Amino acid sequence: MRALILDNIEVFCGEILRKSGIEVKQENKLSRDGLKEVISNYEIVIVRSATKIDAEIIELGKKLRLIGRAGVGVDNIDIEAATNKSILVMNTPGGNTVSAAEHTCGMLLSVARLIPQAHAETAAGIWDRKKWMGVELEGKTLAILGFGKIGQEVARRMTSFGMRILVYDPMIPDEFAQTIGVNLSSLEKCFQEADFITLHTPLNSSTRGLVSKKTIEMMKTGVRIVNCARGGIVNEADLAEELTKGKVAAAAADVFEKEPLSQDSPLLKAPHFIMTPHIAASTIEAQSKVATQIALQIGDWISGKEVVGV
Ligand code: NAD
Ligand code: MLT
Repeated sequence: MRALILDNIEVFCGEILRKSGIEVKQENKLSRDGLKEVISNYEIVIVRSATKIDAEIIELGKKLRLIGRAGVGVDNIDIEAATNKSILVMNTPGGNTVSAAEHTCGMLLSVARLIPQAHAETAAGIWDRKKWMGVELEGKTLAILGFGKIGQEVARRMTSFGMRILVYDPMIPDEFAQTIGVNLSSLEKCFQEADFITLHTPLNSSTRGLVSKKTIEMMKTGVRIVNCARGGIVNEADLAEELTKGKVAAAAADVFEKEPLSQDSPLLKAPHFIMTPHIAASTIEAQSKVATQIALQIGDWISGKEVVGV
């Protein structure tokens, strides 16, 4: 079998696959046209989030049997097109949970105190202590929308800041939420009572535009919103408008509707907006874990063992 590894996935991935007898080619700078030319040579393709494995690529991948995602979100892969061709789609649940949760906590602290903005001004020689009046996290209500692996780790960490945590996730039973010490709640209550909202759902038809003009209307004036999940869960034009109006006091995002973020994005001009370039999982530990995990899972699949992450 031949595997094509893309998107700068750590070299451990290829090393482990080679030990399973797979011929590996790692291409970190392959253009879409380049991918279209070579995809027919491979049974396995492994990506992070930059490369889109859409219906066109799947159609051209005549030998493809498995699409591996070194990460969680599979929204860059056309699962329906893959399934129609009996191609397995496999991700690496849990591999980057801690890193994504820690980045989220950093964003929550940043929206409370506008740390990046204060840094930029201080670096520019402006010493204005009155301007950067923040808020404490202690005693505030944090709504976590999506209580899977990352949402739970965020809850554990933000509890230690003394926050009251509300959780909305239709798949989570009450008894489980109680073991983590959080309250399951309706989406409406989360929107109405939260001082801070953080998103941890996948992007799908039920979550696209979950934060939009209509739902921001239900929120408190001065709410702070963090999106380290997926672009598209927040309507960016609506968020920019509500930041400008001051209804939303501050917001942060690691992920965007279009990546790389377009220089025309209204978010670039919105006040109190903090952004990072989809790096919540970019730690030495997380990248090592997901690269190893996907390779081991593929090895198990080849040797007929039970497969996970499919
Ligand atoms: P997970 O599958 O463990 O958790 C997702 C949770 O969302 C599940 O519990 C599910 O029930 C819930 N959910 C689904 N639809 C919902 C809805 N409409 N409303 C409320 N909850 C809903 O996944 P995870 O590992 O916690 O990751 C969550 C998301 O974070 C991923 O899908 C991925 O898109 C994103 N992510 C981003 C980064 C990054 O680098 N920024 C890193 C890792 C993951
Ligand atoms: C994910 O879904 O795992 C994230 O997008 C992280 C990544 O792939 O870098």
